[in-house]
Amino acid sequence: MNPYLKHDEWCIIEEGFNPANTRASESIFSIGNGAMGQRANFEEQFSGDTLQGSYIGGVYYPDKTRVGWWKNGYPEYFAKVINSTNWIGIDIDINGEPLDLAKCKVEEFRRVLNMKEGFLERTFTCENSSGVRLEANVKRFLSIANPEVGAIRYNLKILNADVKFCIAPYLDGDVQNEDSNYGEKFWDEVERHADVNQSLLVTKTRKLDFHVGHAMRYSLYLNGQKVVAESNLLDKHMYAGCKLFLNLKSGDEVEFYKYAAVISSLNHEKGMFPKVLTQLLDLAISKGYTQLLKEHSEAWNEIWNHSDITIEGDLAAQQAIRFNIFQLSQTYTGKDERLNIGPKGFTGEKYGGSTYWDTEAYCLPFYMITHGQSVARQLLLYRYKHLGKAIENAQKLGFTDGAALYPMVTMNGEECHNEWEITFEEIHRNGAIAFAIYNYVRYTGDKNYLANFGLEVLIAIARFWAQRVNFSDEKGKYVMLGVTGPNEYENNVNNNWYTNYLACWCLEYAQKVAEYVKENHAEKYNALTAKISFNRTQEVSKWRDIRENMFFPVDTKTGIILQQEGYMDKEQILVKDLDPKHRPLNQKWSWDRILRSCFIKQADVLQGMYFFEDNFDLETIRKNFDFYEARTVHESSLSPCVHSVLAAKIGNIEKAYELYLRTARLDLDDYNREVREGLHITSMAGTWISIVEGFGGMRVKDNMLCFNPLIPTQWKSYSFKVCFRENILKVIVSKDDIAVINEEGPAIPLLVFGDKHTLAAKATLTVERKSGRG
Ligand code: BGC
Repeated sequence: MNPYLKHDEWCIIEEGFNPANTRASESIFSIGNGAMGQRANFEEQFSGDTLQGSYIGGVYYPDKTRVGWWKNGYPEYFAKVINSTNWIGIDIDINGEPLDLAKCKVEEFRRVLNMKEGFLERTFTCENSSGVRLEANVKRFLSIANPEVGAIRYNLKILNADVKFCIAPYLDGDVQNEDSNYGEKFWDEVERHADVNQSLLVTKTRKLDFHVGHAMRYSLYLNGQKVVAESNLLDKHMYAGCKLFLNLKSGDEVEFYKYAAVISSLNHEKGMFPKVLTQLLDLAISKGYTQLLKEHSEAWNEIWNHSDITIEGDLAAQQAIRFNIFQLSQTYTGKDERLNIGPKGFTGEKYGGSTYWDTEAYCLPFYMITHGQSVARQLLLYRYKHLGKAIENAQKLGFTDGAALYPMVTMNGEECHNEWEITFEEIHRNGAIAFAIYNYVRYTGDKNYLANFGLEVLIAIARFWAQRVNFSDEKGKYVMLGVTGPNEYENNVNNNWYTNYLACWCLEYAQKVAEYVKENHAEKYNALTAKISFNRTQEVSKWRDIRENMFFPVDTKTGIILQQEGYMDKEQILVKDLDPKHRPLNQKWSWDRILRSCFIKQADVLQGMYFFEDNFDLETIRKNFDFYEARTVHESSLSPCVHSVLAAKIGNIEKAYELYLRTARLDLDDYNREVREGLHITSMAGTWISIVEGFGGMRVKDNMLCFNPLIPTQWKSYSFKVCFRENILKVIVSKDDIAVINEEGPAIPLLVFGDKHTLAAKATLTVERKSGRG
């Protein structure tokens, strides 16, 4: 752990300059607007250790796959989210010496991420090597209201000398990724135009021909008066900007504004870039920094209105949940169905910025319940649009007849993960995609989605499972061989319970949805069956046979569901008995030792119990939770949240709280000492789930919202918002009762602690707590 940040309700605050934390802070203080994101790199030159990151949604690079031994079926490339043109750059030079905090004596340093209004602010006082002291305040944001615009205000005061001062705003396209497999550069210049008024740079990726365009303008004030300074152009390959010179007296104050426009060929015709960029800057300049910031803050206010969670009595938990909501909301806005949520969002290079099963299994509920149905639908449509590629992907692996295997990692629908045990074997991701459709329809009631898009995906997924199993004569059952479950600390296992269970569920759900669409949307059903040659009678009877005769491993002695066949052959050791010096296992043990051990990376059997809780009685959940949690090292950020929800379900509130804190402050306190690589964006959605589904006990059953809340002893009260169909509700849970306020929408039926109530429009329902749960 490395808890160096101050606790605060609405802000993340770093005080004091510790270069060892630079990369971590660059991740934590990242800003974004759904269309792009920016690590908290400094505007001015910095020669210390840093990971430069400016990322544009949907723009990626197919970096050549690098593996030790090539296997047939491997994808050719690993998609990388790429660091693109540096638009924040503002170099400062004093008497010929560049301002560089790595080389200055930093007297005061404070960095604040204001989550309420969505900006990043840095204040510092420093002395350079010639003894010139200055103080600075730098504030920037990437507009949520105008998603192709960013703005920076750089204020600076010279404290003790008369100096020759130079400020140089620029665009630098000569940037690299640290994780480039062969040290390759990804960008080429297309067009450059340096001018004192407006500089512009268009670059394109060396493969796939993505074009991105950046343009900038500025305004400069000295002691409150606008000035036109003497200037030089900065105009070289991949680099455009200008240098502005001033003679400053001790005590002079410089106020500098940089406006940037950022666009890509995903949204604009390549030939139109200069025109579009100029129009964007015209508009930005005409509004001005203060107005742009106001519109941006108002947009944030709107987001908080329907997504905020308050926690009374626990500042660390309060700050953490807002940080999670803030980061999720600035990573994905649902405005563009081609985009998705990478495990690191726009905060680092790791995981390639691509889409994983994390989206369906973890992120969907957060976006659906706080940002609404249309945002959630975009996430489903993303996969619908990739169906053709998922079918091709399955074909490459030998599957036929329209079977689809969605990729483990993707940018455009193609698989781009290249470890065989994951690419070929971690097939449970297919089930999560089907489950998301079910989850969406259960919550929103949008059954039309099934007829228009859902059924086609479900049939293709069901076809995959039907071909992936085989009948074992020895067992007299269907089996699924050579898989990796969610617990990636086991590879190539036979009959992973979760995968087998999920496959059967998919077969059943696809059958039910086919029947529903046939009965209720006959025309669409007929068109679809003709398009994909779906022979319902034949295929469904095969699906039923598989479901009814699937093998599920169980420990006959204890009745525990077995993660996979042979799990009990492993030496059974509990995590509590592991010497802490061995943790984290993935950094301390060889891979083969991990594979042979009983230790579990993340929820596996328990992931199934989380998804399908109604299919298990409480005693079964409790027994399996106690068994598996004790063997789980939670070395995936996705792990603690699912365990927290289940712990709350079985009434183990202390455990639920312990795991909640671990997921909520994972990045802020750097539990795994890796936040420098970027934030764990997708697991942040799990943090939100831990509160709403875990402590709040919120579920949807038979088209009705149900609440069965608990409250951790450390909290006085907590509240969360829920967009459910036509309503927006605010739920407040205290030690004594739960209050539900119907903020928007008509009267709504609710089930609270198992009793049915009707909550009138604008009314509040207060129900006294019933003790315990479980
Ligand atoms: C987890 C996967 C997850 C991936 C990206 C891995 O460490 O084991 O389940 O999809 O990270 O978050």
